[in-house]
Amino acid sequence: MKPSSRIPPEIISYCDRYAEGLAELTTNRERIDVMKDLLPELLRDKQLFHRILHDLIERGEYPDLRYATMFDSEYILYTHPGHLFSLRMFIWKPGTYDPIHDHNSWGVIGPVIGHLEVINYRRIDNGSQEGHARLVETNRQTIQPGDTYFVLPLNDGIHKTGNPTAETIIQVSIYGEGQAKRDHINGFNLETNITYPIFAPKIKKKHLAMMALSCLDSQ
Ligand SMILES: [Fe+2]
Repeated sequence: MKPSSRIPPEIISYCDRYAEGLAELTTNRERIDVMKDLLPELLRDKQLFHRILHDLIERGEYPDLRYATMFDSEYILYTHPGHLFSLRMFIWKPGTYDPIHDHNSWGVIGPVIGHLEVINYRRIDNGSQEGHARLVETNRQTIQPGDTYFVLPLNDGIHKTGNPTAETIIQVSIYGEGQAKRDHINGFNLETNITYPIFAPKIKKKHLAMMALSCLDSQ
């Protein structure tokens, strides 16, 4: 069975519409506006998420759990064959947050169930010191089920998301194609002002392999 044949037809149909809506656009603002219009219909399709989660538990075929993701709570729902976008689901246990981070692309995000907290930050340093960043919190919002918020690439979209409630959150995100020339996103430590790279597991393993290979070569 081809992996694509396990993707629910509803997800393929939603994503075909996203691809059509995004195809001719040239600015992130336009892409975000289109997805702010299109994503809520999927976010309100609780029956579909019920079936996806039920089938995942029963059969374990979709989403593909063998695909290693950057965050443990992340599931890949769809990747556009032309790399125009990816659609991901995140499941937030009560009280869990991701680290403060940026993104390499635009994104539109919203909860299917639960009240998602988003805390946004702005850099107040001039970026001249590699590995350091001073941040100030600019605002915090609670995103209601079916509503969306958006992120911009790099320093224009530094944020942290999570679940301040006692209920589990199902969140869906659509991210555009990477627009930064780097193989990671940045994490930010608010206490130490240190930034650090967060790598996808595949990249992390390649880096380890490169280190091991250069060690072998030097012997
Ligand atoms: Fe994020």
